[in-house]
This record gives sequence, structure tokens and C-alpha cells, in this order.
Amino acid sequence: MKILVVGSGGREHAIIKKLKESRHKPEIYSSPGGGGGKKDSAAFDVKATDVEKMVKLAKDEKIDLVCVTPDDPLVLGMVDELDKAGIRAFGPSKNAARIEGSKSFAKELMKNNNIPTASFEVFSDFDKAIDYIKRENKFPVVIKADGLALGKGVVIPENFEDARKALEEIMLDKKFGKSGNTVVIEEFLQGPEISVLCFTDGKTIKPMVSSMDHKRAEDNDKGLNTGGMGTIAPNPFYTKELERECFQNIFIPTVKAMSEMGNPFKGVLYFGLMSTSSGVKVIEYNCRFGDPEAQVCLPLLEGDLVDIMNSCIDGTLDECPVSIKPGASSCVILASGGYPVKYEKGKLIEGLDEAERMEGINIFHAGTKLEDGKFYTDGGRVLGVGAVGENLSDSLDKAYRAVEKISFDKMFFRHDIGLKALKED
Ligand code: AMP
Ligand code: GLY
Repeated sequence: MKILVVGSGGREHAIIKKLKESRHKPEIYSSPGGGGGKKDSAAFDVKATDVEKMVKLAKDEKIDLVCVTPDDPLVLGMVDELDKAGIRAFGPSKNAARIEGSKSFAKELMKNNNIPTASFEVFSDFDKAIDYIKRENKFPVVIKADGLALGKGVVIPENFEDARKALEEIMLDKKFGKSGNTVVIEEFLQGPEISVLCFTDGKTIKPMVSSMDHKRAEDNDKGLNTGGMGTIAPNPFYTKELERECFQNIFIPTVKAMSEMGNPFKGVLYFGLMSTSSGVKVIEYNCRFGDPEAQVCLPLLEGDLVDIMNSCIDGTLDECPVSIKPGASSCVILASGGYPVKYEKGKLIEGLDEAERMEGINIFHAGTKLEDGKFYTDGGRVLGVGAVGENLSDSLDKAYRAVEKISFDKMFFRHDIGLKALKED
């Protein structure tokens, strides 16, 4: 069996590692691969967003199953094109991927199905958006560009002047291109955030372990928003009671609504949740594995990822075993100095082998390149140091001990991954 993983980050590396454990013993390919792909699969260099070339690659290489991992090819409809070419593909169709690709689509879906979320209005007219913010006069307020914006499309201004500036940048200056033609303006919610990634075939929902991301670049949630500087699982705020509430009020209604609209969601549906004083609410949906959530969820997944992917495609997830291993998992991201703004690449990475040999450690390559047997930095987020332990504190100890072994010029990382969770645990 030949499997092609589309994408090149740490998340894709986590998927490749999990696929390698499958009883089907698949041959694994990746494109564009990255350092992790080169290390653990046969890597090609077709870009993740090049739908046509990716379909051709899958055909030429006689791939049996393609895992379309990142948001942009999913939103572009790569799964639909692979389907048309007769190639099995894991991930939602273009129509189903709108749940992430258009925030206004997601918000309307929630409103129409009484799925709890922040109250909101949608605007395509700058003046009307400004009038609304002036009239409401509630700060902080949350402004979201409708389309994909590399995780940077959400701003939370504290006053009217900053809100006006943000709307100008998004709607008039087109900071995120046409993703900002429409904006969602919503109520600011407060409470601990919880990520729950679920497998679904459009009918059955099987969640992976809950997790917690750390989005800001610096310790104590200071600094700019990033793609994620570290994760832990399970998330201690996700109690059994909350899980029941989520299934009943959020997970089941979402999957049912998507199917009833004629867009059954098949793949990984990521629920970004906030546990507020008035119940748990949806902050966002993603149509894919999170990064770096996959790096903590997959090591705790009990089940054969190849079988799970196939059952999501075939609509037989109800028959496929999916459970969660005991213990806890954490991932600390090692980033290039200056990330998420400006950073240098091409720095030699040292200590990888020693770190990888430590018990319970998994090194995920996020932005590396392999040259003459050596790894060099090749992105903002460079590596994810993952560790599985008996409990959260054990897994964090292991991860940070492994971090000490690794170095590259201007490397930085957060020192407080999981601290909030440890206090709650
Ligand atoms: P999103 O890309 O929608 O996940 O938003 C990025 C981050 O912005 C989230 O992880 C939250 O921390 C924050 N955020 C988004 N929406 C809200 C909201 N309505 N209230 C408070 N914080 C929010
Ligand atoms: N870590 C957040 C995401 O993957 O969207």
C-alpha cells in the first residue's frame, strides 16, 4: 500500500510516524516533504497548493491513499480532484472545508443550528462595520477576516481607534487579500481554550484526546500570535461533564448539519472551544489536524491510522476501533529567533540524535532541511520536541530535558508549556 502525505510541517511528520506503525506496513511518500518527510518517507517536491500537479503525482506513483493535510489544499478542493481521478483521499471535500475556509459560513451554520458560539455580525461593507462597532461600543471586540489568513486573521482591539485601524487593514488595504472582503465581528469571550480533534465519516464521531495549544510567541502568553508554540494533552479543563456537553450541543449538531446541507464532513474536524461561565462555546472550526495538536494527539491514539482514514472515507467509522491511550503527551516547539515576523534560515541543528534516543521522545521536524546527512533550519517553527509520559508533569519533564540537548543559532522556545494545565490538573 502506498500512502502520500500532502504537506511538510511537524503535523505531517507526526502523521507519517503514526502511519508507519500501521499493520498494513505502507510505503510512505510525502510532498513537499520537508526535513521530516525526507527522514521518514520518500519526499517529492510538488507544492501542497498545486492541486493539478499533486493529482498527477498521485496517479504517476500509483498512490493508494492520499492524506491531504493543510487547510489551503483542502479549501482549494484537492480531495474532490483526487476523487475525480479515482484516487482515495482522506480529508473533507471543498464544500465541507468551508467550515474553516469561510468564517461567515461557520458562524451561520452555528446560528442556524443553535450551536453555542460568540454572538456576531457579518459585514462586507467597511462603513457598516465601523458603524456597528461604534454603536455597540463594547471592547475588546473580536474582528475576523472571513477567509484563510495563515492563522493571523483574528484581531482583538481594545478600543475604537484600534478597531478602525484593523478594519482598514483587513477590508481596505487587503492585508490578507480577498480573505478580508468580508469580516465577522464578534463578542469577546473568556475562559480556558480547549482543542478537540475528531475523526468523522459524516455520521459517526470519534474524538482524539483533548489538547491545549499555546498560541503566543513568549512565556506567560505574551508576544505575537503564532501557529502554536507548544501543546499538551489531555487538556485538564476538558472534564467528562464538558465532554458530554460538547457531544450533545456541538459535535453531533455540527456533523449532522453538514450532512443535512449535502456537505458531509469526512476527515478530521477540529473544534476550537472555550469553556466560558455560560457554557462551552465554539471559537473556530478547522477542517484538518491542528499543528502542533497532531504532535500530541497522535502519540496517544490507540488505533490503526490507515484503517481509521479508510473508514472515514468509506463511512464505516462506527466499526473502526479508535481509543485514547493512558498517560499524557506534550510538545515544545523550537523556533527561529524573530519568528513569527522575520527570521534567518540555514542554521545547523545539533543534538538531534541524542535527544531522539531519550525514552518517550519523538522529534517532529516542522521547518528543517536535510543536506548531506545534516539537518538545517528552514522555517520559523523548526522542531517539535514531543514526549509521552505517565502524566502531564512526567511528559513535560521529559520534553524539556530533551530540549536541552538540541541547539541552533538564535533558537528560542517557551519555557511554560503546560504550566496552566499543571495548575489545573
Ligand atoms: P481563531 O483563528 O478563530 O482560532 O482565533 C485565534 C485566537 O483568537 C483564538 O485561539 C482565541 O484565543 C482568540 N479568539 C477568537 N475568537 C475569540 C472570541 N470570540 N473571544 C475571545 N477570544 C477569541
Ligand atoms: N494550532 C492551531 C491550528 O492548527 O490551527
